[in-house]
Amino acid sequence: MNSTIPVPAVVSKIRQVTADTSLLTLRTNLDHPVASSFLPGQFLQLSLPGAGEIPLSYCGSPSSEGDIELCIRHVGHVTTPLKAIVPGEAVGVRGPYGRGFPMPTYTGQDLLLIAGGLGMAPLRSLLLALLKQRKFLGRLTLLYGAREIESLLFLDELLKLQRDGVMQLQVAADHPGHGLNALPGCRIALLPALLDGLDIDPGQTCAALCGPPVVYPLLVSGLQLLGVADNRIHLSMERRMKCGVGRCGHCAVGTRLCCVDGPVFSYAELAGLEGALV
Ligand SMILES: Cc1cc2nc3c(=O)[nH]c(=O)nc-3n(C[C@H](O)[C@H](O)[C@H](O)COP(=O)(O)OP(=O)(O)OC[C@H]3O[C@@H](n4cnc5c(N)ncnc54)[C@H](O)[C@@H]3O)c2cc1C
Ligand code: FES
Repeated sequence: MNSTIPVPAVVSKIRQVTADTSLLTLRTNLDHPVASSFLPGQFLQLSLPGAGEIPLSYCGSPSSEGDIELCIRHVGHVTTPLKAIVPGEAVGVRGPYGRGFPMPTYTGQDLLLIAGGLGMAPLRSLLLALLKQRKFLGRLTLLYGAREIESLLFLDELLKLQRDGVMQLQVAADHPGHGLNALPGCRIALLPALLDGLDIDPGQTCAALCGPPVVYPLLVSGLQLLGVADNRIHLSMERRMKCGVGRCGHCAVGTRLCCVDGPVFSYAELAGLEGALV
C-alpha cells in the first residue's frame, strides 16, 4: 500500500462548529491506515479536485470502519471551497504522516493540554485518546484560549468533561465578544495568562501545546517558570507543506522537517534550532 497515493473518501457528515469552522466526517471504503492507525498530532493530506491539497490534523479517534474527523477553518484557496461541500461528495486523503504526541510517555503522568484557537482540533484527538486511558493518568487539565468566546471549538464537549469531573478546564478569550454571559468563569485574557499561578507538580507534568506559533514563546517561558522541564513540553508546529513526506523541503524547521520529524517536537529538540519559534 503506497501512502503517497490519495484514496477516495466520501463526506458523510458536516457539523458547523463556529461561523468559519466545520467538523467534517469522511468515510473511506477501506480499512486503510489513513483512517485506522494514526496517533493524535499526526496529520493527513486532503485533496479537493480542482482546488489543491492541504495538510489537516486528525481531530477524532482512529476508526476501523474508515471514518475520519477533520476540523476545518475556511480561510483560503482549498479550505473555502470545502465550505460548500455536501454529504456524498468525494475528496482524496493520504496519510497518516508525521510524528504525533508521545502517548506512551504520558502513562502515569499529569497532563496539561494547552490549545490556542484552531489548535483545539489536534488536541481534541489527543484528549479522546487520553480519555480512553484515563485511569492510567494523573490530573488532566485543559487551558484553552481563542479570540472570542464564539470562536471556541467543541465547548459543549469540553464543559461536559469538566462537569463530569474527568478534566479541569480553564478558558480565556482575548475579547469578550457576545458570549461572556454564556460562559461564566471565562477569563478575558491572552492564553498564557492562564499559566499564572497554576497549581501543578512540574516533575510529574507533561504539557502538550497546539496553537498559533506566535503564542509559543510565552507559553514555553510560562511553563519553564512553573518548573516544567523542556523535554516534558511537546509542541505541534505549523509550517507550509507540499509533499508531506520529507521530499520537497517546504516545511523546514531549522535543520528539521516539520512533516516527518514533527509536527510534534519537544521543546528540548526545538530549543537549539534557529528560527524554530518566532
Ligand atoms: C501539520 C498541519 C496541520 C494542520 N491542521 C489543520 C486543521 O486541522 N484544520 C485547519 O483548518 N487547518 C489546518 N492546517 C492549516 C491548513 O493546512 C491551512 O489552513 C491551509 O493550508 C490553508 O489552505 P488554503 O489553501 O485554504 O489557504 P491559502 O489560500 O493557502 O491561504 C489563504 C490565506 O489564509 C491565511 N491562512 C492560512 N491558514 C490560516 C489559518 N489557519 N487561520 C487564518 N488564516 C489562515 C493565509 O495566510 C492566507 O493569507 C494545518 C497545517 C499544518 C501544517
Ligand atoms: S512538506 Fe515536503 S518536505 Fe515537508
